[in-house]
Amino acid sequence: MIHLHITAWLIAVVLLFVTVSMYEKGKGTVPHMIMRLMYLVIIFSGIMLFMSYASHSFELAIKLVVGLWAIVAMELTSVKAKKGKSTRAGWTQFWIAFILTLILGFGRLPLGVQLFG
Ligand code: HEM
Repeated sequence: MIHLHITAWLIAVVLLFVTVSMYEKGKGTVPHMIMRLMYLVIIFSGIMLFMSYASHSFELAIKLVVGLWAIVAMELTSVKAKKGKSTRAGWTQFWIAFILTLILGFGRLPLGVQLFG
């Protein structure tokens, strides 16, 4: 499940860059739709990982919240790009939430790969 989770958010993040740059050229609907599908896979695998814990720490709850925040920020950035509006707020939120998920996921929480911490 952790591999599905990592694969899904990696694909979603790549699609975010593709979607925003294609929307700036007036296209982008297809990668946006695939990215939305990846949101569902990220959330499904995230909930399964969350439920695999016997007890739920504060850090785990924060990981869940920042994970959802990252997805909301990805969607916000894409919709702003589609409407030709500024994507600055979306990108700022995305990078903050994304970096927090990496620190918690790879550094603090026990499942999967431990890259640091
Ligand atoms: C774009 C959004 C997300 C990113 C970038 C992300 C990133 C990560 C990373 C890097 C890990 C650690 C993987 C490892 O240790 O091998 C992880 C684990 C996890 N994620 Fe996410 N995640 C996201 C969304 C979510 C969501 C929405 C949920 C819950 C609904 C969630 C729940 C979890 C749980 C429970 C774990 C296991 C924690 C552990 O390592 O022990 N994630 N995630």
